[in-house]
Order: sequence, then C-alpha cells, then structure tokens
Amino acid sequence: MGPETADDAGVFRIGEGLALVETVDIITPLVDDPFTFGRIAAANALSDVYAMGGRPVTAMNLAFFPSCTLPAEVLREILAGGLDAVREAGASLVGGHTVEDHELKYGLAVTGLICPERVVRNSTARPGDRLVLTKPLGTGIVATALKVDMAPEAVVAEATRWMSGLNAAAGALMLECEASACTDVTGFGLIGHACEMARGGGVTLRFDRAAVPILPGVAELIADGLVPAGCYRNRDHYSPRVAATVTPDLLLPLFDPQTSGGLLISLSPAACDRFIATAADRGLFAVPVGEVLPPREQAVEIR
Ligand code: CO
Ligand code: CO
Repeated sequence: MGPETADDAGVFRIGEGLALVETVDIITPLVDDPFTFGRIAAANALSDVYAMGGRPVTAMNLAFFPSCTLPAEVLREILAGGLDAVREAGASLVGGHTVEDHELKYGLAVTGLICPERVVRNSTARPGDRLVLTKPLGTGIVATALKVDMAPEAVVAEATRWMSGLNAAAGALMLECEASACTDVTGFGLIGHACEMARGGGVTLRFDRAAVPILPGVAELIADGLVPAGCYRNRDHYSPRVAATVTPDLLLPLFDPQTSGGLLISLSPAACDRFIATAADRGLFAVPVGEVLPPREQAVEIR
C-alpha cells in the first residue's frame, strides 16, 4: 500500500503473514517546554502506525534546529521527550539526523510491524457501523491561543496531556474488536478525515455534534476569535461535502487541525458495544460520536 491509497501509513509485505508499516511526521513547536514538544511530536508520528493496526518497532529522529539562536540544551530536551514516547511505545530509537535550519522542527520516521491480513484501512467503513472517537478535539485552537498568550493555564495543561498520550491502547483494542476501518484525526480535522473515510468507503458518515467531545475552554477561545488559519482552510475545503444542521460556531472545532489527535474508528454495532465496555474497564477514553450510512448526498452529515 503506497501513497495512492491515502491511508495513514505505507505497508510493505516482507514475508508470509508479516508486513512493515512505515510513516514519517514532522511538526513545529506548539508548546513552550522542549521536552513536552518532543514527546508530542513523537506521539503524533507514532500515531499513524497505530491507526493502521500496527505495532511500532523502530524510530528515527528528524530534527531541524537553529543552533545559532537556540542553546544545544533545547535540542537535547526535545530528543529526550521523543525518546520517552518511543520507549513507552515499546519501540527502539535506532538513529536519526539533525539539519541546521532557521526554523525549529522535530519528528520521527517510524517503522512498525503488522499482519497484512489485519491492516485496518481508512476506506473500509461499512453502512450500519458505529463511529468512536478516542480523544477530544480542539488542540489546534488551544495551541493558537497559547502562541498569543491568551490560553488559560489549565486549558493548556489539559490539551498538552491529551497530545502527549499515545494511541497505543486504543489501537490494540480496535484490533481486538475487529474494527472495520480507522484513521487518526490530525491536520484535516475530524470532518476532513471523515470525508476521506467516507470517500474511500463509498459511504456517508453522520455525526451527532452534541456527542463529539471537545476540550474544556475551546468554546470560549473560539468566541475570542482564537482560531487557527488551518481551521478555516479545512472549513473552506471540506464544507461543500458536509450537510450540517448546527450553527457555524459549533462546527469549527470539528474542522480544527489536530496534533496527535485520537483515532476515529468504525465498528459494527456489536463490536462498538464491546469496544466501549472494554475501554471503560481499562480506563480508556472512547466516545460514540456517530454512525455510517449508505452513500447519501453528502459525504458527512452533522446534526
Ligand atoms: Co494519519
Ligand atoms: Co501522518
């Protein structure tokens, strides 16, 4: 599976019952603390392996660093944060590369293992499925507010906690429950990634807006106009494929570009019940947010 499938990661069969799942992701800083930034960037990069149903095994650092303007200690802290996430994932950091650059960026190239027969694609949602989301939305809006010092400390702490978390447990449970499709919610926002899922599967995804979890404080930040340009770009791009009966302000968090967002998982109703019940047992966040319908006029419906 290569770039033509628009899935979360590439898959390359290396033998009977075994394939590599490969991905790379690099981001610019969105929090002040270098260790936390490294941790978030790594969680974000690892996520695409989990979204496919894979298990990360190796990772390589990719750092772009302005050594003239920032002390070397900052880079050390970023790499330490990345390593922390890689270790938690049970993967090995096997190397990396640093490039001199005027703008700081960091990420990982990640290789995972996956059973080719059990790859969870983003294009295989079936009518009748239920949709589950495993992290609340709004990290792009919080990061935008943080950049201009307008985000309350508690709001930043909560967003940071979610972005730092791995999608490992949610990915493992999705495999146990034999999910029919999955993607992680990142730069295109919930609606953008839902549009991809709908197009790939030839279905319509319907969301219940009141059920979609949003980070605390996000509604207030939107009211203050603290919305990233990427959110409006997503809205402009995807709106023609969306039928919504809710007010535009309520839709904005669903267009918000996420960093290290949760998994959007499509499961049969029985599998969804099992997923939600087991998630509760394990202390995992998982919220039913909608359902999959046969193809309707629009790819995505919000009500
Ligand atoms: Co992805
Ligand atoms: Co990605």
